[in-house]
Amino acid sequence: MNSLQNSDLPAERPYYSEGKIKHIMYTKISRTTSISSGESIILLGNKNSALSGYGLSAKEISHIKNKLKTDKAASVTIDQLNRKVWIQVIPKKDTPELVHEALRLVGAGLVPVLNQGKMGKVTVVDIANNGAAALALTEGLALANYKFVKYFTDSKAAPSLKTIKVYSKNLTGSDVTNLSHVLDGTEKARTLVNEPLSFLTAVQLSNEIKKFAKESGFKAQVFTKSKIESLKMGGLLGVNKGSLDPPTFTILEWKPKGAKNKKPYVLVGKGVVYDTGGLSLKPTPNSMDMMKCDMGGAAAVVGTIYAAAKAKLPVHVIGLIPATDNRPSGNAYVPGDVLTMFDGTTVEVLNTDAEGRLILADALSYAKRYKPELVIDLATLTGAAVAAIGHYGIVSMHEGADKENELLKKSGNTVHERLAEMPFWSEYDALIKSSVADIKNLGGPYAGAITAGKFLHHFTDYPWIHLDIAGPAFMTSPDGYRPLGGTGVGVRLLFDFLSKK
Ligand code: BES
Ligand code: ZN
Ligand code: ZN
Repeated sequence: MNSLQNSDLPAERPYYSEGKIKHIMYTKISRTTSISSGESIILLGNKNSALSGYGLSAKEISHIKNKLKTDKAASVTIDQLNRKVWIQVIPKKDTPELVHEALRLVGAGLVPVLNQGKMGKVTVVDIANNGAAALALTEGLALANYKFVKYFTDSKAAPSLKTIKVYSKNLTGSDVTNLSHVLDGTEKARTLVNEPLSFLTAVQLSNEIKKFAKESGFKAQVFTKSKIESLKMGGLLGVNKGSLDPPTFTILEWKPKGAKNKKPYVLVGKGVVYDTGGLSLKPTPNSMDMMKCDMGGAAAVVGTIYAAAKAKLPVHVIGLIPATDNRPSGNAYVPGDVLTMFDGTTVEVLNTDAEGRLILADALSYAKRYKPELVIDLATLTGAAVAAIGHYGIVSMHEGADKENELLKKSGNTVHERLAEMPFWSEYDALIKSSVADIKNLGGPYAGAITAGKFLHHFTDYPWIHLDIAGPAFMTSPDGYRPLGGTGVGVRLLFDFLSKK
């Protein structure tokens, strides 16, 4: 079944907006082999890089050289009549990863200046023959130049910067286009997170995925409520019971000819389009108010597969997105309920706010049918993960995937979406034992991120990595190149991981 049936849709939700997301804020990035005069440029080099040939006067060059020498400055700005020229020295750090992160932050710092100056384009010029450094700076510029403006009536709310060009003899065209694809995927993930429930219901999320599938060439199949019922996905149906809107279960597939892997990589994303907590209702301030981010895992899976398809990565990847909102209502599931999951496991619900693990359980059991090489799930799963490490990284656990986990950690360092591994000792298993069913959806008062991981582990029988992105998925104030709202965390991580296969 590929399309939504009318009978599965809610009768009338007149105040809900319609239509599709306009992804208007994508910053266009391309490689260039010439720099025209009058164009603002960022010269990225070393302290001793030659500065002639870029339209700077002898006086300007000696001013720059002096400044870089005397006051240890890492950057100089030259205001010419019709353009700006920035000279940025590549900082010295202990590892290349840290150099690249510093350059992303330099890029992020320039974005407000570019936009306040109403500049439409800028060219990054690699004068150090260091293509990776130029890409990192470009990445920081583009990531910071995102703003979710759909609901502003003032069209001037959008950033002025629209185009970034990269000039480097050290880069190929595909280096730059791959960066532009992964940034495109990241922006799409951010926008999905930023869309409120008044637009992005589970059905709408599935529709967006189908649109992205058409655009980039992956396949998408949507299971509607009747199919989910016939599959007996008790976790997804249980969480959905209190909702007026039906759930969806969407399968994405990117399977290029000549894929390097025989068995697929499966990515599972939590798609709770809004988490009120259900009857175990969340308090509003600093809690429920940001819960439109609770499909951040789903957004990461969609953004990654979109980018993988655009970049035609030679890997077979499948995405599974169970989606619903979690709401209280006259018919909502209650603490004490026992759910029978897709794989037959019975689960005692002790807190309706621990809903993510219930819908993920069905998707993780469903993943078994693919005999996967590896399954990675991404979920804004627990407040405990935020309490443990804040917004600075991803809380992770894994089982039977030691080698892949090392590679994923490496990708995490490369893109600065770092993994913080939790212990996964067998003692934690006892904490989700139930007195009335096979397991319960609540652990003890401590180690909440780990007991949630243990719950998920019950539904896996393949190499598996769990990523709890509750901390980094959503920012309540901008931080470097991560804007307010959805960050798109996971897309750059997984794209880097898959592109090294
Ligand atoms: N969606 C939340 C987790 C969350 C918290 C995401 C903060 C993003 C930021 C999840 O569904 C939840 O409510 N988890 C509960 C589980 C508890 C009831 C066992 C939590 O962490 O408090
Ligand atoms: Zn919850
Ligand atoms: Zn949740």
